[in-house]
Amino acid sequence: MTALPSAHRGKNPQKRSPIHKALLAGAAGVVATLTVVAMIPNANAAASTLGAAAAQSGRYFGTAIAASRLGDSTYTTISAREFNMITAENEMKPDATQPNRGQFNFSAGDQIYNWANQRGIKVRGHTLAWHAQQPGWMQSLNGSNLRQAMIDHINGVMAHYKGKLAAWDVVNEAFNEDGSRRSSNLQGTGNDWIEVAFRTARAADPSVKLCYNDYNIENWSYGKTQGVYRMIQDFKSRGVPIDCVGLQTHFTGGSSLPGNFQTTLSSFAALGVDVALTEVDVTNASTTQYAGLTQACLNVPRCIGITVWGVRDSDSWRSSESPLLFNSGGGAKAAYTSVLNALNSATPTPSQSATASPSVPSSPGPSSSPPPPSGVGRIVGAQSGRCIDVPNASQNNGTRVQLYDCNTQANQQWTYTSGKQLTVYGNKCLDAAGSGNGSGIQIYSCNGQANQQWNLNSNGTITGVQSGRCLDVWSTANGARVQIYDCNGQANQRFSLAQ
Ligand code: XIL
Repeated sequence: MTALPSAHRGKNPQKRSPIHKALLAGAAGVVATLTVVAMIPNANAAASTLGAAAAQSGRYFGTAIAASRLGDSTYTTISAREFNMITAENEMKPDATQPNRGQFNFSAGDQIYNWANQRGIKVRGHTLAWHAQQPGWMQSLNGSNLRQAMIDHINGVMAHYKGKLAAWDVVNEAFNEDGSRRSSNLQGTGNDWIEVAFRTARAADPSVKLCYNDYNIENWSYGKTQGVYRMIQDFKSRGVPIDCVGLQTHFTGGSSLPGNFQTTLSSFAALGVDVALTEVDVTNASTTQYAGLTQACLNVPRCIGITVWGVRDSDSWRSSESPLLFNSGGGAKAAYTSVLNALNSATPTPSQSATASPSVPSSPGPSSSPPPPSGVGRIVGAQSGRCIDVPNASQNNGTRVQLYDCNTQANQQWTYTSGKQLTVYGNKCLDAAGSGNGSGIQIYSCNGQANQQWNLNSNGTITGVQSGRCLDVWSTANGARVQIYDCNGQANQRFSLAQ
């Protein structure tokens, strides 16, 4: 792995290591930050996959996956290479997960979850309460019976996936085109059904982001967009738990990319929710529309990621319109290149892109420092004063890292690379064994994937690019194991880098 440039190594041994400087620079402000950036020759090297390109600005790029296609190696090869977020296309919907009342079935959903999790890819849950794709027994219910069935369904499914998912589409497609509520059996249970769904969901799994998801809400001046906006505004003002809005972004000949898409995204975000493009497909994969929708997301700090609704055109629910980024043979289309180029030209982090759209309140949370230069150092816990250490100097893949009294040995020497890896012994990487709360942190052979990429933030936290969660230790003792957990601002999630 990259060592310190010899000029820095030899001449000024008492100087702080670049890895240390990177954290300090983030904290110290703009002038120091620019100095560090100037030292990095390849900080903005283009990424060659959608997921890696999106990760440069702290975002994800995902796809919908169908369990029935997981045996197709062209499909799985593209998916594992390009995407760092997965949505189950149908397998986590009510008809799939509760075919008979009280009898849950997670086999297809788990196939997708396990496939993704084994590759360090995060998963969005889709969807819990929806007028469509209900099992037959639910379709025939109404009133308080259906209300209870909805609550039971949310509890049953969320319990199974508790702590495992990045987000849930709690409610899907509840509005008419004119901004009124869609009439459905769920709406018939009372206008409060949506907030009841969200409150139930929050209680069922407090760790997962809760989203409202819909289509034709991309045009800011459209009635449906305004209707959904008013509901989110109302929820936020009354404390109904909601974290995100998913804009499906199915663009057809009739409803293509609106010029005000970015305004829609920033307006929702200004209510205090994240936004995401959740089911993107575009008639004939127009390159200008794909580039434009990508750029709109990149311009809004709280637009956290983009998911396309399938891999190849032949996998699409709209396959006759060839709306995806890969052709049926698995080749990347022109739209793929237009998306990749847009992602690669984004500023490094969402918080930094806040400066590009001053009308939008910047997102809360830590700002990531710019990619720091390569350098070697120890990672010291702010609360414990102890160092991140590979037990017994093991070089075995899968060895969980721990806190231990700092020393000068190689099992505590970490190198931060321009690819955001933290390497030890030259070829092993700090690696998250999963993306959920409590996932273990281990060493593993470096493989370039997002679960081995880390942001060193100006507030001392170290966040996983793949999970967005913070490195965290429950105890200050020697031997305390390191994990990832939701960032909470506490000292057990802060680290400094020292030589
Ligand atoms: C679609 C799937 O892609 C199809 O395979 C299925 O037959 C119907 O549903 N909005 C949504 C998605 O939220 O769940 C839908 O997915 C597409 C529209």
